[in-house]
Amino acid sequence: MKVLNFGSLNIDHVFQVAEIVRPGQTIDSLSVENFPGGKGMNQSVAIARAGCRVYHAGNIGPDGQELRGLLEEAGADCTWLRTVEVGTGSTFIQVDSNGQNCIVLNGGANRANSREYCDEVLANFDAGDLILLQNEINCVDYLIEKAHEKGMVVALNPSPMNEKVLACDLSRVSLFIMNEDEGMSITGEQEPEEILAAMAEKFPEAQVVLTLGSKGSLYQGGGRRIRQKAYHVKAVDTTAAGDTFTGFLLAGMARGENMAACLDDGARASAIAVTRMGATSSIPTLEEVRATALEA
Ligand code: RIB
Repeated sequence: MKVLNFGSLNIDHVFQVAEIVRPGQTIDSLSVENFPGGKGMNQSVAIARAGCRVYHAGNIGPDGQELRGLLEEAGADCTWLRTVEVGTGSTFIQVDSNGQNCIVLNGGANRANSREYCDEVLANFDAGDLILLQNEINCVDYLIEKAHEKGMVVALNPSPMNEKVLACDLSRVSLFIMNEDEGMSITGEQEPEEILAAMAEKFPEAQVVLTLGSKGSLYQGGGRRIRQKAYHVKAVDTTAAGDTFTGFLLAGMARGENMAACLDDGARASAIAVTRMGATSSIPTLEEVRATALEA
């Protein structure tokens, strides 16, 4: 099974602050740094560092060549990554003293996909291969439709959640990896148990991984549920915690590991990621995950 991640790449401008700024307020930052990021890129780096081959498709601008280098260095195949004449996607991120963040996106080159480019990339994949998507690029609806038509397994991390996700034909998704807010938007339910029950009713064939932050995650699929605990660490920056979880989970699935082991790898890797600043730069390797003792 080949794994294709069609996703975003961003340059993250990260401001460390004591507290996230409130409307109308002006505050000093404690530090400012640029980091490589983007949900797509973070997830590809996590998949690669978890020991699985991943093909990354998407767009960078002329100012984003460093991101290509970093993806390749992590082990991702960038054959189908394009450079377009639009600035690379970027973000403005505030990280507070508890490691919590808030993110403002500028889509840039991530929004330069055309249907022709999507077709060109998909032509290299077959039935049974997996496509991973997030919602920071354009053409997500088209990619879901065409990948499904080919018989590819569609995995969707519906983040960031907005009306474009809800406009997609989600019945073609085989695996949802989503947080509670995203689950609420898709189902209208509030509680994790109710979200999972509604997902089973709406999408009976789909597997669902519902992430619950410090409470771990819940898996539902094939008529069974698995509860995964979270590992507790001192968080410095939670950016890319979910992306790290997603990447390690998918890499485990691609290796054919059982779901409980995949979830545990994801939880361990994301716990390590939040102890460091930055997005891609915080993602551990599988070797580090195996060698690190963590407490639940
Ligand atoms: O999920 C974290 C990522 O979201 C950041 O790296 C930022 O680029 C935004 O896309």
